[in-house]
Amino acid sequence: MGRAVACWMPLLLFFFFTTSSSGDGNTAVLITFKNSLTNSAALYSWNETVNPCNWVGLHCKDDGVIDKLTLENMDLSGMIDIDTLVQLPKLRALSFKNNSFEGPLPPLNKLTSLRTLYLSMNKFSGKIADDAFAGMNSLTQLYLANNNFTGPIPSALLPLPKLVKLSLENNQFEGQIPDFQHDFLLFNVSNNHLNGHIPVALAGINLASFAGNDGLCGKPLSACKSSRKKTIIIIAVVSASVIALAALVAVAYFRGRRTKTTQVKQLQVQGTKAQTKFAVMGRKEFVQSPDHDHKGQLHFVRNDRERFDLQELLRASAEVLGSGNFGSSYKALLLDGSAMVVKRFREMNNVGKEEFQEHMARLGTLSHCNLLPLVAFYYRKDEKLLIFDFIENGSLASHLHAKRASGQPGLDWPTRLKIIKGVARGLAYLHKEFPNLTLPHGHLKSSNVLLDHTFEPLLTDYGLVPVVNKAHAQQVMVAYKSPEFIQSDRTTTKTDVWSLGILILELLTGKFPANYLRQGKGANADLATWVNSVVREEWTGEVFDMDMRGTKHGEGELLKLLKIGMCCCEWRVERRWDLREAVDKIEELKERDSDDDFSSYASEGELYSSRAMTEDDFSFSINR
Ligand SMILES: *[C@@H]1O[C@H](CO)[C@@H](O)[C@H](O)[C@H]1NC(C)=O
Ligand SMILES: *[C@@H]1O[C@H](CO)[C@@H](O)[C@H](O)[C@H]1NC(C)=O
Ligand SMILES: *[C@@H]1O[C@H](CO)[C@@H](O)[C@H](O)[C@H]1NC(C)=O
Ligand SMILES: *[C@@H]1O[C@H](CO)[C@@H](O)[C@H](O)[C@H]1NC(C)=O
Repeated sequence: MGRAVACWMPLLLFFFFTTSSSGDGNTAVLITFKNSLTNSAALYSWNETVNPCNWVGLHCKDDGVIDKLTLENMDLSGMIDIDTLVQLPKLRALSFKNNSFEGPLPPLNKLTSLRTLYLSMNKFSGKIADDAFAGMNSLTQLYLANNNFTGPIPSALLPLPKLVKLSLENNQFEGQIPDFQHDFLLFNVSNNHLNGHIPVALAGINLASFAGNDGLCGKPLSACKSSRKKTIIIIAVVSASVIALAALVAVAYFRGRRTKTTQVKQLQVQGTKAQTKFAVMGRKEFVQSPDHDHKGQLHFVRNDRERFDLQELLRASAEVLGSGNFGSSYKALLLDGSAMVVKRFREMNNVGKEEFQEHMARLGTLSHCNLLPLVAFYYRKDEKLLIFDFIENGSLASHLHAKRASGQPGLDWPTRLKIIKGVARGLAYLHKEFPNLTLPHGHLKSSNVLLDHTFEPLLTDYGLVPVVNKAHAQQVMVAYKSPEFIQSDRTTTKTDVWSLGILILELLTGKFPANYLRQGKGANADLATWVNSVVREEWTGEVFDMDMRGTKHGEGELLKLLKIGMCCCEWRVERRWDLREAVDKIEELKERDSDDDFSSYASEGELYSSRAMTEDDFSFSINR
């Protein structure tokens, strides 16, 4: 994240070029502007006999060009004469903060070169025209807080490419928050009358920025309960035997097909302003359904777990967590308050029922503090549900890559070390438990590493290779993006090691391996490029994630882990470390360098800036 902020810095700096009109030449313009104000007593120093650069509230650059007009706390009112201000073409910053201006927003979009604009703490009111900010492409900061604006937040803000601070709190804005995609450094819409879903791109912003509205939901606030597609299963069951069919229909529902069944009724149940829908199914469809599990039951694969039945699960209020490569997953809140994750898998219909159940039972015997345990599953021929505990703290991917509210710290080195050790242990356990599988995990990536509240990692989506349809697995699973699969259509027990290596590089650099997002074979070239770029091109730049820059005396250990990552990413399988070696090396890592180590490594500053490393630092190949 430190990096992201750094990228924005140039936007926040003010650059002024060229000289055209000096402060002197603008005296008449400014006096005209002043005359449109009422109660301008505070502008006593605006005297034509004095150079405007010395007037209160005016700022000139060294060359005398006016760049800022800052008239704050002056109890000014009257008209803000924009047509006159247009004659100050180099005006970058304009502030009328804490005055007594009233009425609608002035036609600011004529000031196309403005970068910052403060109108907070006035008495502006009324709707803001939809094009009020159209074309203000230099605008980085907009402050309209503490006024009395009504109507929707203007959509003309959406395309402003440089906007990083937007302060709209304490107004009367209503409707939904436009779908901002910006990387805001400041965003505040608290105390308005907004409702609806908070745009996903704003999920990392402090929740205080959304407080005091009528009905906002979604991250960082609590989940939206209602909106149609986002509600899972949804079913109140008439009789136990109907349940399986209900699931069937829910599936159809999610595929976007309107269920034709006449007997589907939707009961609306009021939640907290949102609703959860329940479909009530008739018996007829169930009987006609060609492929239902007559028992309609959940199979629990562990004995140490509180049981619940499918009925309870289907009744639970639920929320879509996301749609992964296999299918959607949902968070379901059971009546007893426990939260479960339900993952739907469609591409698992090439294995027979018995084989599937056996494999699930096998997964159910696994027990390790770094594996998210499978709790139960539900089997239908063309669809499976796997049920896990819900882990509150999100995934490693979200911690590394999602936007955070400013001030919220990133993962430090000790936390990352704890995570990678846990990942290594979980992986080693899987390899021990499944000695006959080539890919005991098969799908190791940062979004499949969940973090509990102590940041202990929990692996998910492991052990699925034997039951996922082969073609689909090759399309989406990480193991099949490995160099050996690309080159020779094979995977080996070292393939999981390669995934571990990518994860290590991602963890250290904070960079997202773009290929995870893509599918199919072509994507591999990208990953190779990525690995190479991390080591080669960026080697002289900031190799490590800036969020770890507070690390003291751990630099040597960071470098050791980087080397381990590289050894795990070795393209040639014969030269790649095996898992045992990788895990042993990871276990040896410490939070702090020992004194001996420390002297031999670069100092902190060098590590994060410009130590020019050579390949001699590493005695292994990074090429294919
Ligand atoms: C401007 O300054 C001059 C000289 O300091 C003074 O005589 C004059 O009254 C001032 N004018 C205004 C409008 O304050
Ligand atoms: C707003 O301006 C008035 C003068 O017009 C001043 O007395 C007051 O302290 C200012 N308020 C803030 C919060 O700065
Ligand atoms: C804000 O506007 C509403 C009507 O839109 C009005 O009732 C209210 O008094 C105004 N508040 C202030 C502080 O001007
Ligand atoms: C947003 O504004 C509200 C009201 O002024 C304030 O309480 C809150 O702290 C602000 N949010 C942030 C993140 O600064």
